[in-house]
Amino acid sequence: MMKLEGRVALVTGAGSRKGIGQSIAMLLAQEGAAVAVNDVNREWAQQAVEEIRKSGGEALALPADVSREDQVKNMINAVVEKWRGLDILVNNAGITQAISVLEMSEEDWNRILDVNLKGTFLCTREALPYMIRKGWGRIVCISSVSGKKGGGRIGGVHYAASKAGILGFTKALVREISPKGITANAICPGTIDTGKDPGRRMWNGRPALEGLEEARNTIPIGRVGTPEDVARAVLFLVSEDADFINGEVMDVNGGAYID
Ligand SMILES: NC(=O)c1ccc[n+]([C@@H]2O[C@H](COP(=O)([O-])OP(=O)(O)OC[C@H]3O[C@@H](n4cnc5c(N)ncnc54)[C@H](O)[C@@H]3O)[C@@H](O)[C@H]2O)c1
Repeated sequence: MMKLEGRVALVTGAGSRKGIGQSIAMLLAQEGAAVAVNDVNREWAQQAVEEIRKSGGEALALPADVSREDQVKNMINAVVEKWRGLDILVNNAGITQAISVLEMSEEDWNRILDVNLKGTFLCTREALPYMIRKGWGRIVCISSVSGKKGGGRIGGVHYAASKAGILGFTKALVREISPKGITANAICPGTIDTGKDPGRRMWNGRPALEGLEEARNTIPIGRVGTPEDVARAVLFLVSEDADFINGEVMDVNGGAYID
């Protein structure tokens, strides 16, 4: 029996091939959810939808920039128009930049905070009324180990700040929305191998193989993570199995960071 039969899900930043978001979208669709695939890149969103449909899932491409209020509103309206509701939101869209604080411009700071943190806020605010209407909803926010330990291999202070901000956002959200039947949880992935195409990956800006090899040596489990490792954690949190799990920050890092 599929775990998400009859549910409608939106996954942001789900266009990137071999990316975490696409893997989440695929798995939720395999489990029976109708999945809205958002990405700022229209072509990638469409390609991801085609992949999902090929494996028998139901999906819709919704190109939009999550940091733009008008575009987020239109996106949520389109989901609701198509499937008459929205039950599950996965705030996954995120960008990073390997840069020192001394070199960081105001524009750099704003860009990262706008997509990672403001995007999470805007998508959540626009999705909530439909979950409240149903008396049921699930929100999962993708943070990062960087948000806990204050930086990682691939991001600057702005990235760590945005990911720590997502944790505070998720916890505060729980206090407001839980009485309405909605849970919110966060996931902190560690090092996840999302492929090596330069220019479109979290690993952009560093030689990917070198970075991954280095990372592997610091992970007790002896390997880097896969997008599917994160997707399975999301599936659990949005399923009925996680009914009583709320405000949790779940690490998916192979033991690389334990707090
Ligand atoms: N890969 C890792 O090691 C790792 C580790 C910890 C956390 N994360 C987090 O996981 C999430 C996914 O990362 P990934 O590695 O799959 O990255 P990725 O770069 O492969 O995918 C991110 C996707 O988000 C899209 N996107 C960027 N800006 C957007 C915007 N304004 N609106 C809508 N979509 C936008 C991109 O086009 C891309 O398809 C991010 O939030 C990232 O911070 C990744």
